[in-house]
Amino acid sequence: LASIEVDISAIETGQSIKTSWRKQPIFIRNLTAEEIAEANAVNVSELRDPQTLAERTTAGKENWLITLGVCTHLGCVPLGAAQGEIKGEFGGYFCPCHGSHYDTAARIRKGPAPTNLEVPLHEFLSDTVVKIG
Ligand code: FES
Repeated sequence: LASIEVDISAIETGQSIKTSWRKQPIFIRNLTAEEIAEANAVNVSELRDPQTLAERTTAGKENWLITLGVCTHLGCVPLGAAQGEIKGEFGGYFCPCHGSHYDTAARIRKGPAPTNLEVPLHEFLSDTVVKIG
């Protein structure tokens, strides 16, 4: 299937949207400075799936966290991408199916999920358009 282009100009700092690609939910989140600082303050070597925020985002655009909205445990759609949804104990996403908590870099921090939310291949075509896939 083809890649998609998403206009992100309306996503304000602290907000996120859900879209879909290849029939899978995609979360696009505009992290706040505080959420970025929180992600960067973590000792990566202690993580189940050790990755820095920088490794999961594009240089110079670390505020744009783009992931699949698919829990890596058994595939439920985590909460936290829509306004008002709970974000779990680490401020990112929470999967209510069996209680997986993801942090502000969408890394698994607590619960049964084995790996971080997957970051799909993506590229910024401009400051406001990102191509996924
Ligand atoms: Fe998400 Fe089991 S599917 S915790």
